[in-house]
Amino acid sequence: MFEKIELAPADPILGLNEAFRADPREDKINLGVGVYKDEAGQTPILTCVKHAEARVLETETTKGYLGIDGHPAYREQVLGLLFGAEHDVVQAQRARAAQAPGGTGALRIAADFIASNLSGKRVWISNPSWANHRGIFESAGLEVKEYRYYDAANNTLDFDGLMADLDSMGSDDVVILHGCCHNPTGVDPSLSQWQQMASSAKAKGWLPLFDFAYQGFAKDVESDAAGLRHFAGELNELMVASSFSKNFGLYNERIGALTLVAADADAAERGMSQVKRVIRTNYSNPPSHGAQVVATILADAELKALWLDELAQMCQRIHRMRTAFVKGLADAGVEGDFGFIEQQNGMFSFSGLNKDQVEQLKQEFGIYIVGSGRINVAGMTESNLPALIKAIAAVS
Ligand code: LMR
Repeated sequence: MFEKIELAPADPILGLNEAFRADPREDKINLGVGVYKDEAGQTPILTCVKHAEARVLETETTKGYLGIDGHPAYREQVLGLLFGAEHDVVQAQRARAAQAPGGTGALRIAADFIASNLSGKRVWISNPSWANHRGIFESAGLEVKEYRYYDAANNTLDFDGLMADLDSMGSDDVVILHGCCHNPTGVDPSLSQWQQMASSAKAKGWLPLFDFAYQGFAKDVESDAAGLRHFAGELNELMVASSFSKNFGLYNERIGALTLVAADADAAERGMSQVKRVIRTNYSNPPSHGAQVVATILADAELKALWLDELAQMCQRIHRMRTAFVKGLADAGVEGDFGFIEQQNGMFSFSGLNKDQVEQLKQEFGIYIVGSGRINVAGMTESNLPALIKAIAAVS
């Protein structure tokens, strides 16, 4: 039966990781997958996580199954972080979260929920978007289309194009919005632009699904949620797929959430009952550890303060690397104004390097970058920056 199966192409992001690991060159540099590295080039376990894990190990008494939607304490903390505990949607119990295996798991739950419960079967993603978005929604049998987002000529948001596309949508459309730190461009709407986008959703009836994987990496956890919180204040319904892979460094614990906001508590309850059906038929119920760690940290004032401080330090290091990268390119005489890289948010920089340059960087210099030209700035360090800049100068 298997003899006719064709070899699948490598994943554009995780496939790069495999190629990187197999590369014997000692000076290779991985700027592919969106994983934070510290100054020593390591992906550290946060101190707040280590403390919380010790506490969890000491106090947990069972490995019994969790509920289909995960730890109650975790779900409550997720809502607080997304909307603020005092937000109307939380107070009125219009928002319900389900624990999910990472942001990707949350997106796939959303996709299956849309496919089996909503009349609309069309999902819009930004052009460009995270390389896995299309596959996730198409795998659930949904049609995937692209709305305008990035103005490549000016390295900015194509806000007119974006609004024109949003305004052409209707109540059968679902629109994926990147809550902050747009992946792959790092270009986010301003608050007033978010407000205009929310007005479009209200007027045209399209349903927003926020992909919120980088909360805290643009400015801070509160400011980064401003767009989402505005939408939640204006609209009856929305969804959020969120992740703690990056902001807690819990990549391999696969910890995220799918959140529904509905018009009232009853509709939220019914919606969540269908989300739970999706989960039950996919993987039954989630693993526990990551949720316990996150819930422990967020419920403890001291651990939460430590987390916010560690998150701010990651964010500041990325900003420093952006500045050093731009300066390095200018000093090396690489043609063009790369100042826009300093304005981008989050881990990624949409560098403008083309496919051939990306390939040459890999073959000749052992530098791994996603084919779209997306660079993970969080993979740069003081020590690998000179070699990186030299290589980019050589291919430019
Ligand atoms: C990325 O975009 O690099 C990350 O979100 C990791 C992934 O799963 O692709």
